[in-house]
Amino acid sequence: QRYSKIIGTGRFLPNSPVSNDELAARLAKSNIETSDAWIRERTGIAQRYIANSDQTTSELGAHAARAALEMAGVEATEIDLIIVATSTPDMTFPSTACLLQAKIGATGCAAFDVQAVCSGFVYALATADALIKAGQARTALVVGAEVFSRLLDWTDRTTCVLFGDGAGAVVLQASDEPGILANRLHARGDLSNILCATGTVSHGVVQGHPFLYMDGQAVFKQAVTVLGEVANEVLDGAHMTADQIDWLIPHQANIRILQATAKRLGVSMDKVITTVDLHGNTSAASVPMALDVAVRDGRIQKGHHVLMQGVGGGFTWGANLFKF
Ligand code: ACO
Repeated sequence: QRYSKIIGTGRFLPNSPVSNDELAARLAKSNIETSDAWIRERTGIAQRYIANSDQTTSELGAHAARAALEMAGVEATEIDLIIVATSTPDMTFPSTACLLQAKIGATGCAAFDVQAVCSGFVYALATADALIKAGQARTALVVGAEVFSRLLDWTDRTTCVLFGDGAGAVVLQASDEPGILANRLHARGDLSNILCATGTVSHGVVQGHPFLYMDGQAVFKQAVTVLGEVANEVLDGAHMTADQIDWLIPHQANIRILQATAKRLGVSMDKVITTVDLHGNTSAASVPMALDVAVRDGRIQKGHHVLMQGVGGGFTWGANLFKF
């Protein structure tokens, strides 16, 4: 049987971190009031990274991709599939995956974007796994990359303190042994209005609202419910139970969502990889960056079972379960 296995991980964060105090001071200049205490208590976020205005998603993604390729010991020319998960593409087209392909020098292979907002990486990994298992690809590069700072209304304190920029990547390769054990993906388009950025460019002007909108409490409730459900679905898919999981990596949106999900699954918080404090919510980049942090610091080791979960705009959610 043909499986797919993660053989390298990487991440990239632009510039130096911006602390809550620093952000509060910047917002105060526009008479927007917030504080380190409010942000930490409600979200668990202590800092985030913000790209320069000339730094693109493909550029951040290319840095993360190079780090993952180096860990995997794979040359860019060996890649035969690139999938980039992003909701902040460099341009309408070509896809960010094509632009990233050119940056890393991996010419000729299939390259496309997946757009599932904060669930994007989980969707992209499930897609790459399916293509490898179907024999359509052997070595895939799967990237989650975002510059969410571009979508933020910096006068709206209820959203602008939550997000950050960054990129994470994995190299996924065909293998005789598992690997990815199960994936589950879901969407509810009828809930699109609770988390959206409706703006688009049409006839040369922006149509719709150019910034991210979020009904925070509705998203919170929905996220906690579906993350519990999808974890159980993906565990069932692999005939496993939550106590067999070594590490849980939920989408890093808010520490309270992570805590509620762990509690629901009966998983202790010391098995939950947490980076929301350091990175903020980086949408599709959050899960692969958290994975890379825990692989590089030695927590996730060969043979460990890892459950990753995404949830976000669409409304979308999903999970991947794998043996590292
Ligand atoms: N600084 C200071 N005060 C603030 C700020 C801020 N940055 N933002 C809001 N407030 C105020 C509000 O104005 C309100 O004041 P009021 O009581 O005088 O009206 C008060 O704080 C409470 O606001 P709520 O919105 O009720 O705060 P809540 O406890 O719901 O926390 C939050 C808001 C953090 C957004 C929460 O709803 C949440 O975590 N939602 C989940 C959504 C999420 O994490 N989304 C990330 C993207 S979605 C995803 O990735 C799945």
